[in-house]
Amino acid sequence: MEFKIAVAKGDGIGPEITDQAIKVMEKVAEKYGHRFEFNNVEVGGEALDKFGDPLPQSTLSTCKKSDAVLLGAVGGPKWDAFESDKRPEKGLLRLRKGLGLFANIRPAVLYKQLQDACPLRSDIMNEGIDICVVRELMGGIYFGERGKSEGENGKEAFDIETYSEMEVKRIAKAAFETAMGREKKVTSVDKANVLESSRLWRSVVEEVAKDYPKVELEHMYVDNAAMQLVRRPSQFDVILTTNMFGDILSDEASMITGSIGMLPSASLGEAGVHMYEPIHGSAPDIAGQDMANPIGTILSCAMMLRHSFNMEGEARTIEVAVEKTLEEGFRTGDIMSSGMKQIGTCQMGDEIAGRI
Ligand code: NAD
Ligand code: IPM
Ligand code: MN
Repeated sequence: MEFKIAVAKGDGIGPEITDQAIKVMEKVAEKYGHRFEFNNVEVGGEALDKFGDPLPQSTLSTCKKSDAVLLGAVGGPKWDAFESDKRPEKGLLRLRKGLGLFANIRPAVLYKQLQDACPLRSDIMNEGIDICVVRELMGGIYFGERGKSEGENGKEAFDIETYSEMEVKRIAKAAFETAMGREKKVTSVDKANVLESSRLWRSVVEEVAKDYPKVELEHMYVDNAAMQLVRRPSQFDVILTTNMFGDILSDEASMITGSIGMLPSASLGEAGVHMYEPIHGSAPDIAGQDMANPIGTILSCAMMLRHSFNMEGEARTIEVAVEKTLEEGFRTGDIMSSGMKQIGTCQMGDEIAGRI
């Protein structure tokens, strides 16, 4: 089978980690007789530097014509003082919106091989961690009205969070569908004790739940959820939440499973071109030093194979290759512990590709 994959490497560690993922995908292609055509597109700071726009029209149109998109990461200190529309992150937000990607699926699993990297007490860790964060990706405060002005007490600024019934309904459905294939429990995380948008969120989620009588639904305030994630993560199966809360809670969930460098994600929409991106950022502090963990990006490719190309066997092959590599003691710095073999980004890619 032949597939076109747009690759937005982006900034910082973006190019290093996506190169490893492509290496692994090429081994998958060879083993199974597929053809993956990788087309580089510019996004983020890289695109700003070249075209003065963090999402050039050509990038969006190439992505739309592709079968899937792989994204590394965007952003960095170089562009931090730029105004809001000229920031690398805005390019990523426009790309998600442009492709209609409303559901960001972020699985956080503690591999038994990585227990040494888990910062939790062993009795808590031994109950296991297997959570799937279903994060709304096209609405909320990320896409609301924002502005700044001069007020009576100096400068003022605002960002508005709005959710419509339609937006909550479609992400809630995605969460319940996800739960049906898992442990059949949804924890919907909001701040309904304060926010009107959360109260709407809660009532729409309740409505959608009626179509899934086999799934247990629980509501939880976001402050409590942040605490419960480290107190007893085994209580969670699917976490359904807003764009901003999902951003924050998924970084927290990543750390309890070892490292932010491990977590993949799938950004899904109705149009059919989905995007696959690790949950971490461009890590400017370690960029260009062959130190970054490429596993989140490599596992994002496994999600691509599964969700976009319907290749369950090929997806499992990548996941098993990652597990074997960890089993044999190979570690990047972020997941290193005593007695293990510390290697760089590129060798991690080689080790995983070598086990395909
Ligand atoms: P970050 O995720 O880039 O880094 C946070 C910390 O985690 C750093 O210490 C970093 O070294 C480490 N880290 C991240 N990924 C790693 C990996 N694969 N292997 C090993 N260590 C890793 O978050 P930040 O520092 O808050 O943001 C840096 C830049 O990235 C900002 O410009 C931010 O806007 C951007 N960002 C982009 C994305 C994205 O493109 N999806 C996501 C988050 C942040
Ligand atoms: C992520 C990032 C992005 C987000 C930023 C860079 C816009 O933090 O993918 O988690 O907040 O969605
Ligand atoms: Mn984030």
